[in-house]
Amino acid sequence: MAQLIDSFLHLLLLLLSFSHSFSSEEAGNYHNIIEFGAKPDGETDSTKSFLSAWDAACGSPGPATILVPAGFFLVDHVTFYGPCKSSYITVQIDGTLVAPTDYANFGKTKQWMMFNRVEGLSVSGGTVDGRGSSLWACKNSDGDCPDGSTSLTFRKSKNVTISGLRSMNSELYHIVIEDCEGVTVQGVKIEAPDDSPNTDGIHVQKSTGVTIIRSDIGTGDDCVSVGPDTTGLWIEQVTCGPGHGISIGSLGKSYDEKGVENVTVKLAVLTGTQNGLRIKTWGRPSTGFVDNVLFQNVTMQNVKHPIIIDQNYCPHHEGCPGKDSGIKISQVTYSNIQGSSATEEAITFDCSATNPCTGIRLEEIELTYGNELAKSSCAHAKGSAYGCVNPPSCLQ
Ligand SMILES: *[C@@H]1O[C@H](CO)[C@@H](O)[C@H](O)[C@H]1NC(C)=O
Ligand SMILES: *[C@@H]1O[C@H](CO)[C@@H](O)[C@H](O)[C@H]1NC(C)=O
Ligand SMILES: *[C@@H]1O[C@H](CO)[C@@H](O)[C@H](O)[C@H]1NC(C)=O
Repeated sequence: MAQLIDSFLHLLLLLLSFSHSFSSEEAGNYHNIIEFGAKPDGETDSTKSFLSAWDAACGSPGPATILVPAGFFLVDHVTFYGPCKSSYITVQIDGTLVAPTDYANFGKTKQWMMFNRVEGLSVSGGTVDGRGSSLWACKNSDGDCPDGSTSLTFRKSKNVTISGLRSMNSELYHIVIEDCEGVTVQGVKIEAPDDSPNTDGIHVQKSTGVTIIRSDIGTGDDCVSVGPDTTGLWIEQVTCGPGHGISIGSLGKSYDEKGVENVTVKLAVLTGTQNGLRIKTWGRPSTGFVDNVLFQNVTMQNVKHPIIIDQNYCPHHEGCPGKDSGIKISQVTYSNIQGSSATEEAITFDCSATNPCTGIRLEEIELTYGNELAKSSCAHAKGSAYGCVNPPSCLQ
């Protein structure tokens, strides 16, 4: 009898511990997309499964995790909407998310995967493959092609971390952060060939408190591009190349535009890029501005235009009455910028005649052009130089 009771208790304990471990897993709140029907074969459309996993995570109390396990998952256009009941959602990607390849149809929608109105989100690890090569080929042969889809968009969201992610071969931009507050991008790798059109690495606009750190970006357009209404942007330890550089702009396409303020770019290395540190504005009237920008400790390796402000952007010379940009550029510091220029003109300040650049500061600049002297060129650019500045400053 005692033995019976003993084994009964034993069983009870076992059951209790089993249900305990089960409920603690529930508390861990894991949602594996496979359990929602996703197939890691790269061919079965797993969009609905991913979305169901999102709905389960988003609707649950406390923190929740969505797991994309190893394997290839085909995912079509999808938006993950908040607000969520969950306090914090982690999308842990171990495998690879692949886009459909029918660009003629797929590329008509602007966003591939989008997170919208989510507060408290982490997207980590894994690979996102936009498979953009056939769309680029279409664009590069002047065919009748759609614009393409941005791989990852974060919109109207707060407290977002994107880490350890690899984004490759996007049809259009790789990552877009818009209308967000408090976003950290860290340890991200972005890869696309240098002849892939419009494949910007990370585009930030209408956002505050965005940090991009320890990330490697190689692509066919800007590595980082910054749109209007952006404040408190911090970029540190980012490598760029191939690509068009780190670019504030294009700004001033619209007349009514908010400014770009408080931008820091530190410890960046640009290799073989078209531009290094660029500010680019349309030659059109606008209410926008650029104020308080610090470029510090940046290395250039064979960069065509290492330091450039271009306020005369006007593709096809259309729609630029008077050609003067309304964007006011002020308080831009270039400190300790070193390395090699691939063209003679290493520094270009081509500012607006009606809104000259003011408060430009050059300090400790050493840019070389092969064995020859590099040059700088200024138009409507006011400011000062400090310490050793080579090529010599032409600021007024
Ligand atoms: C972001 O979310 C984390 C996890 O919930 C939380 O600890 C942190 O306070 C949040 N940060 C902000 C700025 O809301
Ligand atoms: C920009 O930085 C300055 C100085 O730190 C600060 O006073 C100002 O409020 C910031 N601007 C914005 C829009 O956050
Ligand atoms: C930036 O460069 C300056 C001058 O070379 C150096 O003193 C400073 O330590 C550097 N800062 C960082 C964070 O590397």
